[in-house]
Amino acid sequence: MIRYRVAPSTGIAGEARVPGDKSISHRALMLGAIASGTTRVSGFLEGEDCLATMRAVAALGVQVSRPGPGEVVIEGVGLDGFRAPSAPLDMGNAGTAIRLFMGLLSSQAFDSVLVGDESLMRRPMERVATPLRAMGATIQTSDGRPPVRISGGMPLHGIRYEMPVASAQLKSALLLAGLRAAGDTTVIEPAVTRDHSERMLQAFGCEVSSVDGVVTLRPPARLEAANVEVPGDFSSAAFFIVAACIGAHAPFVVRGVGVNPTRTGLLEMLELMGADLRLVNRRTCGAEPVADIEIRPAVLRGIRVPERLVPLSIDEFPAFFIAAACAEGETLVTGAEELRVKESDRIAVMARGLGVLGIRHEVLPGGLRIEGGGFGGGVVDSGGDHRVAMSFAIASLRASAPIEILDVANVATSFPGFATLGRSVGLGIEEVA
Ligand code: S3P
Repeated sequence: MIRYRVAPSTGIAGEARVPGDKSISHRALMLGAIASGTTRVSGFLEGEDCLATMRAVAALGVQVSRPGPGEVVIEGVGLDGFRAPSAPLDMGNAGTAIRLFMGLLSSQAFDSVLVGDESLMRRPMERVATPLRAMGATIQTSDGRPPVRISGGMPLHGIRYEMPVASAQLKSALLLAGLRAAGDTTVIEPAVTRDHSERMLQAFGCEVSSVDGVVTLRPPARLEAANVEVPGDFSSAAFFIVAACIGAHAPFVVRGVGVNPTRTGLLEMLELMGADLRLVNRRTCGAEPVADIEIRPAVLRGIRVPERLVPLSIDEFPAFFIAAACAEGETLVTGAEELRVKESDRIAVMARGLGVLGIRHEVLPGGLRIEGGGFGGGVVDSGGDHRVAMSFAIASLRASAPIEILDVANVATSFPGFATLGRSVGLGIEEVA
């Protein structure tokens, strides 16, 4: 089992560039696969999650090649062109892959079975299966979890669906199912969630409207292949943004980061705490806004996190909890129940690790109350969760003794090269087999 051994360091300095966005990389593969023509992707995240999607797309009969680092070329087979896979499709650790494929595959002529690793096999799938059944699909889960068995040959019809949870994966699965359904598909969001699917569907020529949380897709005759330039992943940048807030003594820059406003709730949360953050060199990268993020030294103070920011920063809470532990006073997070069904139960796993490192906290059903204080050292179990592992690695910037983090192999699902990049800016991080 791979571990991190992280020595306390005196700070981080310089700049960082993080790998491509995971959400956008998954979607580029999927839309490229069902488009007509050749889609070229640059800045693709070569992490395990997106490679699982790539293998699944290939197993469905789509030709995918990788001419260079971060480059992917997809020969689209059109909306009706998938071939039956010869074995269950293995989605690895990737919740986005399994849920979006449920939407894509529920209208196909053939049966398919979707499975994943130990963590994915524990995650809830009925939130997607239930509305897909309402569209006409036949889907079985095992007590709500994978394996997901989809029966082929079911014609779908569009629905109007009010989502019970704020989930971009659910919204996206229904929009993808809607591509081959009769009539429009409308999804109503209880709160704004990431809109990469809507933006990319539009870039591929599909009519999708989004007004006040009501997203409607009109089934297109075809999707037109497009070139996709993937920006740096805000969720990966988050570790260096928080690291700089707690451990930089001079301005630190993270370059080329996707700053889609449905993803950047963390910036607002840190600013409420007193962080000095600036977005500079703003530009667009295809359908997505991009900027360099500059972080200047500032003192952080505890806050009550506004619940409206939760879906806009859902993947950033492990890193945010580290910022909260370094702030003066108390920080309160509520309304974040969804954290319990991520790659791990991120409330429980982060709370255990914070406790090991001497941070006083209270576990709440949908969040945490954290008292700022210094970290001690100790051995923390990541629970196999990539974002938990990276969060405790940056805690070392304020720790009085080494932190050892267990079970970190899954960092490769979203952030290959994290330890090397961390070392290059001053983290005392060492990977130990
Ligand atoms: C994602 C949506 C979010 C997020 C996940 C990626 C996506 O999940 O946590 O890492 O790409 O659509 P939910 O939609 O389940 O909140």
